[in-house]
Amino acid sequence: MKLNIVVLPGDGVGPEVTREAVRVLRVVSDFCGYDFRFEESPIGGQAALDFGSPFPPQTRERCLAASAVLLGAVGGPQFASLPVESRPEAGLLDLRQTLGCFANLRPAIAFESIASCSPLRPERILGANILIVRELLGGLYFAEPRALDVAGKCAWNTMRYSEREIERVARVAFHLAHRRSKRVVSVDKANVLETSRLWRQVVTRVATEFPEIALEHALVDSFAMNVITYPTRYDVVLTENLFGDILSDETAVIAGSLGMLPSASIGGKVDLYEPIHGSAPDIAGKGIANPIGAIASIAMLLRHTAKLYAEADSVEAAIDLVLKAGVRTADLLPEAERGRAASTTEMGQRIAEATVEMLNSRMAYFAV
Ligand code: NAD
Ligand code: IPM
Ligand code: MN
Repeated sequence: MKLNIVVLPGDGVGPEVTREAVRVLRVVSDFCGYDFRFEESPIGGQAALDFGSPFPPQTRERCLAASAVLLGAVGGPQFASLPVESRPEAGLLDLRQTLGCFANLRPAIAFESIASCSPLRPERILGANILIVRELLGGLYFAEPRALDVAGKCAWNTMRYSEREIERVARVAFHLAHRRSKRVVSVDKANVLETSRLWRQVVTRVATEFPEIALEHALVDSFAMNVITYPTRYDVVLTENLFGDILSDETAVIAGSLGMLPSASIGGKVDLYEPIHGSAPDIAGKGIANPIGAIASIAMLLRHTAKLYAEADSVEAAIDLVLKAGVRTADLLPEAERGRAASTTEMGQRIAEATVEMLNSRMAYFAV
């Protein structure tokens, strides 16, 4: 098995968490005798300062030639004075559009061992396993016209969706639901927005291709309340770009920390993997960021791009094992206990060791 993985560490905690994700992927590659190659490339604010673009042409070329792309995070207050087109976030949006990955999968699982990390009551979150399927290339993020008038008195963004854009992401959600609990909730604002009325119409039609899946529609405002009040009621959540961005950070509360959540962006020329969190400027450079979102993104890469299902399961089992052993980064501890927090590197090393353990026990199992 050969994979050419382009790693885009980016800004803030991005380089810290991607280092640990690559550590785990190397362990899988070495253990299984695969040929995984890693190539780093600049993106984000630092790339804008060093190369004049937050998504430099050499990064674009490498990404388009890759088997998969692993991104850390971009952005930070130090880049606020860059012109709009050079902002780190513009680089990330350009990357997503270049790769064409229109379906962004954002799973949020309430691990039993860290249920106490959530401010939500454990009995509410235990058993929660939500998969947000976020449309990634449409809506307010990309449509024209968009502008801030020169006088700074007025600004526009356009919410636009085409039937095709809705259809293709809906099909991804229904296919995934087929392998899960066979339930999809589609979240929109159809009581106010035309784009949402089209969304609801198209999703309802696509659902007829999947008669075994139960489809429910929900309005985003009450859904935002319900998902956190009754997290176990939901399974696959299909929604448009901006709602998906906001709701996925909300579901991080169910998982215990924003640092826990991975993502996979699929459907385009090359798949993109990234934790859902940002550059975390408040903790960047301290070596304390939680690398689990980035490492769990590696498990998604192994499953979706490489089709290495046993290896993907091993990485996820390793994360679970290390959490069960009580290893915690600072975000997973109450303030009074942060003295015993594992660093980003310690957490990465423990998960890498546990991955070897899991791969070994699988080998032993199949050898019997
Ligand atoms: P953020 O996700 O960076 O941080 C929000 C909070 O979560 C902070 O308190 C942070 O310390 C904490 N946090 C985030 N990741 C963590 C981790 N791995 N371990 C422990 N704690 C973690 O969101 P923000 O502060 O609103 O945004 C900061 C910058 O990141 C902005 O410039 C924003 O545009 C950018 N951003 C980038 C991405 C991306 O690159 N994919 C995603 C979101 C935000
Ligand atoms: C995310 C981020 C990005 C988004 C930004 C940085 C462009 O918040 O990946 O969740 O809004 O998609
Ligand atoms: Mn976000």
